[in-house]
Amino acid sequence: MLLLLPNAASAYQLPSRGAAAPRRSSLASCVIAPENPPTTTEYPPMAPFEPAKRLAGSGKPTVWGEFGQLAASTGAVNLGQGFPDWQPPEFVVEEAQTALRTGYHQYTRPAGHPQLVEVLAQRYSKHLERPIDATTEVAITVGASQALYLTLQALIDPGDEVVLMEPAFDLYYGQVRIAGGTVVPVPLEVDESGRQWTLNANRLEAAVTEKTKVLVVNSPHNPTGKVFSADEMAQIADVVRRHPKMLVISDEVYKYTVYGDDANHQHFAALPGMYERTVTLSSAGKTFSVTGWQAGWCIGPATLLKPIQLMLPFVQFCVSTPMQQALSRVLVKADEPYLGHPSYYAWLCEMYRTKREILATGLRRCGMVPMEGQGGFFLMADTSSLEVPEKYLRETTPAAPDGVTRDWALCRWMALEGGVIAIPSSPFFSADNKELAGRYVRFAFCKGDGTLQEASDRLACLSGCDVEALKNAPVMGS
Ligand SMILES: Cc1ncc(COP(=O)(O)O)c(C=O)c1O
Repeated sequence: MLLLLPNAASAYQLPSRGAAAPRRSSLASCVIAPENPPTTTEYPPMAPFEPAKRLAGSGKPTVWGEFGQLAASTGAVNLGQGFPDWQPPEFVVEEAQTALRTGYHQYTRPAGHPQLVEVLAQRYSKHLERPIDATTEVAITVGASQALYLTLQALIDPGDEVVLMEPAFDLYYGQVRIAGGTVVPVPLEVDESGRQWTLNANRLEAAVTEKTKVLVVNSPHNPTGKVFSADEMAQIADVVRRHPKMLVISDEVYKYTVYGDDANHQHFAALPGMYERTVTLSSAGKTFSVTGWQAGWCIGPATLLKPIQLMLPFVQFCVSTPMQQALSRVLVKADEPYLGHPSYYAWLCEMYRTKREILATGLRRCGMVPMEGQGGFFLMADTSSLEVPEKYLRETTPAAPDGVTRDWALCRWMALEGGVIAIPSSPFFSADNKELAGRYVRFAFCKGDGTLQEASDRLACLSGCDVEALKNAPVMGS
């Protein structure tokens, strides 16, 4: 006797939402299986498992794992990872509660909840000074991380080159690799003041080859806090214009935290001729202190957005509906006056300007030189004046198995003996440029003022300063 089993493919195929379930009874969808299948002992043993080749090199311990563990095991003041340590503003929490109470609990449109894409289209129509179509030129994603992932998957083929200006957000390297691309790094330069990261457009031009497909622009910038000037943005656009195949991913997750004197956020896609070539990414996390909401988006021309929209329902059916609904209202409410400021966005900039100054002052007092930064919530400091104990320089760690760079050793020393977590800058450079990282360390200042002060005091102790005397001393070089 024969047993009839449903065809494996149709058994695993999920019905699309609202569509009829696949028919299972027809003979055409059946395969024939022997009545008495062999016992397991007769099967060959399972072959050794190898993860997909495109993931090669992705599973290594990371700086986040290592310094996250150090933070947990030492109880150090954590200025490592970039998430705020406070409750989001009340109006943000209220909108989330309202969305949950008023019943946004089911799937919404895969490319984005209608209310949210409409609000984003309106806002970006103003930012980019052109009409943005809510249906075809916006896609909602799980944070900016997924926006980046989908955009890279949609834009590049294996073998394509992706130009990154270094230091660069370390997520870019892994995502380019998984998409089959190759990172081509262009180091930013430090000017003669030793405090300002600058773009050398000639180096950028020289990095472009026949294989270049994408340039990633990130302003305000992680890890430096640099806001690219209008002049630098124009130079980047000039390079892009000279290369017909070249596309741009503009990562603007910190765009509402630009507070440096004379610094303004430039939407790259608003520059002449750049809209058609640019996918702009952003998310709610940094702006509203809700990094866990993971609500992000891509904005761009329909030709570039279409493949991203097509992929979305295969990756997840939709991003959390109540969070999208809440965000559609939060983005607009944030334009209203807030705590004595013309808007929440203005208040946010002021808050981060103050926090940066608290941290910068503390770092200067223990001999570090804070690099200039006009936006975001990271500060990079030149630590050359600090002497790292030899034993830390000779270490290897799971995330640095070939030996640590100076910045890494310094951060371990700060964590283990100073009780402060900061992030070495070498993970933000590609292998060939890691020697540029040795003197720099990244601090996150999206933390309470007391935490920033405590970190400064601890670092002062570590560097051998008299903390009480320092509290009253004038600050040089601010
Ligand atoms: C430059 C940059 N882009 C993207 C992201 C990811 O943002 P999200 O948390 O929305 O995925 C981050 C997070 O740290 C970031 O710093």
